[in-house]
Amino acid sequence: MKFFVDTADIDAIRELNDLGMVDGVTTNPSLIKKSGRDILEVTKEICDLVSGPVSAEVVATEADAMIAEGRRLAEIAENIAVKVPLTWDGLKACKTLSDEGRMVNVTLCFSANQALLAAKAGATFISPFIGRLDDLNIDGMELIADIREIYDNYGFETQILAASIRTANHMSDAAKIGADVATAPPAVIKAMANHVLTDKGLAQFVKDAADAGIKIV
Ligand code: G3P
Repeated sequence: MKFFVDTADIDAIRELNDLGMVDGVTTNPSLIKKSGRDILEVTKEICDLVSGPVSAEVVATEADAMIAEGRRLAEIAENIAVKVPLTWDGLKACKTLSDEGRMVNVTLCFSANQALLAAKAGATFISPFIGRLDDLNIDGMELIADIREIYDNYGFETQILAASIRTANHMSDAAKIGADVATAPPAVIKAMANHVLTDKGLAQFVKDAADAGIKIV
């Protein structure tokens, strides 16, 4: 499973990228707002740092305007994936932009039918939002499983990009189901390293090493 990092925080992206943990980046208007940066500037910086796909989202809601914004965003760098919402207008924009050879990430997906439409419209990525479904007591992982089954039934090449990931368990669950990509905030990716038994075991090793006076360099 590829790891995308869901942030516009350059320092956080750099830290994970240096560790080989970043196969791509996703942003959205809320994350751009949080960064306090200009969208074109910060997106360019991210694209300079990361070689994989960098999703940048349109803000228009009407197809022609989305297409114009998508073309502008795609001028930033070769690795831009234009992100459009899963509305009828968004699907029109997806079809036009993907026919032009651009990567398109269709976002705000909450049903298998929406994912089927995005694949038909030529989406490179479909972004089902797990956490926001879980918030409503609907199992977000079931949606990932349904989309996996449907795409595999018909050989759709659209990649399933599990999004709205809130916990480390979401990452392993998405990987078990076979999501192609998971995008998560930096803190969730780092939390994947945590285990209480690792901490406990390490504390014992540190103590024993000190007691025994073990020195290596
Ligand atoms: O990847 C989509 C993400 O940015 C939304 O996450 O936690 O706001 O539902 P969340």
